[in-house]
Amino acid sequence: MNIILLGAPGSGKGTQASMLSNKLGLYYFQTGKLSRDLAKKDKRLREIINSGKLIPEQEMTMYVIDNLSKNRSKMNNILFEGFPRFISQYKALAEFLRSKGDDIDAVISLDISEKEAVRRISSRRICEKCGEVYNLITNPPSKGGCKCGGKLIQRKDDNPDSVKVRFRYYKEDTKKLIDYLEKQSNVIKVDGERSIKVIYEDILRKLEKKGII
Ligand code: AP5
Ligand code: MG
Repeated sequence: MNIILLGAPGSGKGTQASMLSNKLGLYYFQTGKLSRDLAKKDKRLREIINSGKLIPEQEMTMYVIDNLSKNRSKMNNILFEGFPRFISQYKALAEFLRSKGDDIDAVISLDISEKEAVRRISSRRICEKCGEVYNLITNPPSKGGCKCGGKLIQRKDDNPDSVKVRFRYYKEDTKKLIDYLEKQSNVIKVDGERSIKVIYEDILRKLEKKGII
C-alpha cells in the first residue's frame, strides 16, 4: 500500500504521517528529511532549502527514485510526506511504482489557512536526535525536552521570510497538483484545522470508507 500526504507548510503532514505510518505499518518517507540530509554536504541545496525554495522538480524526482530503488527491500508499503509536489513528480512516482507492479492507493490533502500554518510553524520545535515534532503551544514536549533526551531545535527554514516563500511555492505548484488530482476524484480532502487526534481519526475513517485499509 502506498499513501501520499499533501498539504501546505505547517499543515501537519509530518505529525499525521508519523502516526499513520506507525498505525498502518508503512515506511515513512519524508522528502523534507531527505532534502535536509542531502543538504548537509551540498551548499547549493542548503541555500535552496533554508530560503524556503523548492529543489528543482526533476532533480528532486531523481533523488527520490534513486532512494526508492536502493532501499526497495525495506520500502514495500510507503507513506510519502512532501512528495510529490508537482504533477510531473506525481506522474514519475506513479510510473516508477507501476514498473514494480505497485500503485498509489490514496492521496490525502490536509487543508489549512496560511494564518494558522504560520502560527504553528513559529512555535514548532524538532528533536535534533530522533526527529520527533513538537509545538510549544499545541503539542508541547514534557519538561522542555524530547522524550528520547534529545535537544529541541528550530528548523533553519522556519523563519518568517522562508515560510512566506514556502507558501508561495505551495500555492503556485502543489495546488496545481491537488487540482489535477481533484479533477480525477483522486484526492481525500481533510480539514487540517482541528486537533491532531480528531484529524488522525478522520483520516483513518476516510481510508476505511474507501476500502483502502
Ligand atoms: P518539508 O520538510 O516537507 O517542509 P514543508 O512542506 O514546508 O512542511 P513542514 O514540514 O514545515 O510542515 P508539516 O506539514 O510537516 O507540519 P508539521 O506536522 O511539522 O520540506 C522542506 C524542504 O525540502 C522544501 O522547502 C524543499 O526545499 C525540499 N523539498 C521537500 N520535498 C520536495 C519536493 N517534493 N520537491 C522539491 N523540493 C522538496 O506541523 C507543524 C507544527 O504544527 C508542529 O509544531 C506540530 O506539532 C503542530 N501541529 C500539527 N498538527 C497540528 C494540529 N492539528 N493542531 C495544532 N498543532 C498542530
Ligand atoms: Mg514536515
